[in-house]
Parts: sequence; structure tokens; C-alpha cells
Amino acid sequence: MNLILLGPPGAGKGTQARMLGEARKLIQLSTGDMLRAAVAAGTEIGKLAKETMEAGKLVSDDVVIGIISERIDEPDCRDGFILDGFPRTVAQAEVLDELLVQKNKTLDAVIEIKVDDERLVKRITGRYTCAKCGEGYHEEFRRPEKDGICDKCAGTEFSRRKDDNEETVRSRLTAYHTQTVPLIGYYGNSGRLKSVDGMLEINSVAKQIEVALTEL
Ligand code: AP5
Ligand code: MG
Repeated sequence: MNLILLGPPGAGKGTQARMLGEARKLIQLSTGDMLRAAVAAGTEIGKLAKETMEAGKLVSDDVVIGIISERIDEPDCRDGFILDGFPRTVAQAEVLDELLVQKNKTLDAVIEIKVDDERLVKRITGRYTCAKCGEGYHEEFRRPEKDGICDKCAGTEFSRRKDDNEETVRSRLTAYHTQTVPLIGYYGNSGRLKSVDGMLEINSVAKQIEVALTEL
């Protein structure tokens, strides 16, 4: 199964992609994580993307399409993947449809996670991540079982994203509303879209996604 998780910054795409990926043995493909890795490694793509990401704007379609197209060809994607944060513009969605046809793959579902803007700011400004395994946490909504120790890998170092401040979040939200929201119509017309209430707690959202996938 190949699917897209669509939603604004902080909606829970990464959280749900990790859970669903473990449950259904699907590979999480986060363009945000890939771009952050490129920035950290100082590659050409990283150098191109750094400022744009820190300003909360979208990186160019060509760059992200190139990254995703190569990544989908890797052998671990053969049995299914979850696109987390891609596509984000109608142009990206159109090219993705073409790529999937060329690669003889299908798109089985698009799940939209809906959350109000004000809640998103709170989610993002309280987020932190295990520096070793990438597991995501929140100061209020998702604390590790033992303070300061990652539930998944027992790591004790955590990091915060450079773009997780209130000012940048506002511009990421503007980018979402102007450039990504049109995808809801794009996929809605094709009958592949299901929406879930992302305002509920993490496990309830996961359950809704499972139900949506069985209905499709
Ligand atoms: P990206 O990394 O994709 O960031 P984003 O879309 O802004 O989304 P986030 O990762 O911030 O949120 P999320 O939905 O994954 O939420 P999470 O699960 O962590 O992109 C970053 C940048 O890269 C972009 O701004 C752009 O510059 C560039 N980029 C990436 N892809 C691109 C593309 N295709 N085209 C162009 N540019 C691109 O949850 C957030 C927090 O809330 C966590 O702390 C979590 O524990 C908590 N939480 C999650 N769910 C719940 C819940 N139900 N209840 C309570 N708390 C919850
Ligand atoms: Mg994410």
C-alpha cells in the first residue's frame, strides 16, 4: 500500500507516519526529514534549501521531486510507503501521478489530518525529538514515560528544529493554506481522499486512520 499523509505543519503527519509505518510495515518518506539531513550534511541540495526552510517557505518543486523520485526507487519502498509532507503543491501532485505510472506503482489513499491553526502553533513550539532515533515528543501532549529518556531507544539527547518558532510557524501555515490546501480538491476529485479529525489525541487519530484505510 502506498499513501499520502496530508496536513498542516504540526498536524501529526510524522507522528502518525511512524505509528502506521510500524503497524503496517510501510516506509515513512518525509521530505522535511530528507531536506534537514541534506542541510546537516552540507550537500548542494542542503545549501539550496537551508534559508528557504528557516524562513518557513517551500523548497522548489524540482528539488523535492528529484529527492522523492530517487527515494521511491530504493528496494525498501517496494512493499509500500507513506509520503509525509509530499506533495505540497498541485505541481508536485501532478508529477507524482506521472512518476507512479512510470514506476508501475499505485496511490492507494490520501489521508488529510485536520487541525485548527492555533492548536498547531502550540504543538510545534512544544515539540522535541530524540537525537538518536528521531522519535517525536511534546512538552505537554506526548512526554516520554521516564523524563529525559526516549521510550524507543533509551537515548538521552533531544533536539529541536530550527524552524519550530512561532514566527516561522506562521509563515509555514501561510504556505500551507495558499500552496498545499488546493491538493484537497485535487485528490478529493479522484475519490482517494479521506479526512480525519487531528484535534483528538494521538491514539484516536491513529484509529481513525486505520478505519479510513479499511473503508477505501
Ligand atoms: P516538514 O518537516 O514536513 O514540516 P511540516 O509540514 O511543517 O510539518 P511538521 O513536521 O512540523 O509537523 P507534523 O505534521 O509532522 O507533526 P508532528 O507529528 O511532528 O517540512 C519542513 C520544511 O521543509 C517545510 O517548511 C519546507 O521548507 C520544506 N519541505 C518539506 N517538504 C517539502 C515539499 N514537499 N515541498 C517543498 N518544501 C518542502 O507533531 C507535532 C507535535 O505535536 C509533536 O510534538 C507531537 O508529539 C505532537 N502531536 C502530534 N499529534 C498530536 C495529537 N493528536 N495530539 C497532541 N499532540 C500531538
Ligand atoms: Mg513532520
